[in-house]
Amino acid sequence: MEQRFVAKNAQLTKDSFTTRWQAPSNIALVKYWGKTAPQLPKNASVSFTLSNAVTKTEVAFTLLEEPSEKVTFSIVFEGEEKPSFRPKLEAFFANILPYQPFLAHYKLTITSQNTFPHSSGIASSASSMAALAACLVDLESQFVPLSEEDKMSKISFLARLGSGSACRSTQGPMMAWGSHAAISNSTDLFAVTAANIHPVFTDFCDAILLIDKGQKQVSSTLGHKLMHQHPYAEQRFAQANDHLAELLPILQQGDLDAFIAIVEKEALHLHAMMMTSDPYFILMEPNTLSVINRIWMFRKETGIPVCFTLDAGANVHVLYPNNVAEAVNQFIEAELLQFCQYRQCVHDKVGTGIKKY
Ligand code: PMV
Repeated sequence: MEQRFVAKNAQLTKDSFTTRWQAPSNIALVKYWGKTAPQLPKNASVSFTLSNAVTKTEVAFTLLEEPSEKVTFSIVFEGEEKPSFRPKLEAFFANILPYQPFLAHYKLTITSQNTFPHSSGIASSASSMAALAACLVDLESQFVPLSEEDKMSKISFLARLGSGSACRSTQGPMMAWGSHAAISNSTDLFAVTAANIHPVFTDFCDAILLIDKGQKQVSSTLGHKLMHQHPYAEQRFAQANDHLAELLPILQQGDLDAFIAIVEKEALHLHAMMMTSDPYFILMEPNTLSVINRIWMFRKETGIPVCFTLDAGANVHVLYPNNVAEAVNQFIEAELLQFCQYRQCVHDKVGTGIKKY
């Protein structure tokens, strides 16, 4: 139990309170894969915060006559009640209730929507948990004095308890999560902004190619679990921490060749862990590999610094600096969209994090 995050002596001065927050998705450059309870990472990770792939969440809090043992809530997502969302939310609320005991006194009416295509395979757990955590901390700040910094770390802390990578969606342009010797304020408990980023990275583009919109065959929850018995787990955790140490000066200097080498290696090592788990699994599709090969050919022929990364699925994130966006967008249109389901691609770029709306 992290005492510093427990909301103590909250005076419930509100019978009702409504708040709306939006939070973006994020894409990891150094990947988090493997954790221990309660949602603590086995290695440090760093990600670009995105701006267009966003979850918007409204929470209306109404004071109950009697406090309940569990958090009382209803959830409507994109206009429909979602009983299938309840187990994950129930687990989340059980995890955070000790940190926000005042929630037992309220009924929460949650209404949420994503700006990106529904079931596109774009991970929405990061954006949705960060948006919800922002609403919860907004209520807390009505009862307990919190500085801006306290609010940000609490939002990231609560979001982490919902979905690990969600803690990296709160601020931009980049966030690091996990204790690491090279980042002085880093911690396993919440994400912090990565400082001194070269301007080339502050408006970096991410075109998310929707290769396969189907249900993932293996959830990231199971994937993380399989790292417990994994023969290469310890080497992988050490490698990710080494990659982060190497990447930090590269991010400050704006060295794109060195950036590409680490980012692509990270993506392939993440998937190599999946392929060498027991049971093993493959989340890439043939079209994922076709896209990767086309990117490599294009980069070799043109010298344009475009690269790819992957998260836990078949979709490809195409990463490139804003000053080559026109050429890369033409290349995507001409050569990559043919490998996407329904030629779908979500154009995103680095952003600033959560926002009240
Ligand atoms: O936050 P989770 O439990 O969905 O795990 C996310 C894992 C990756 O997206 C594959 C990597 C990362 O660091 O975001």
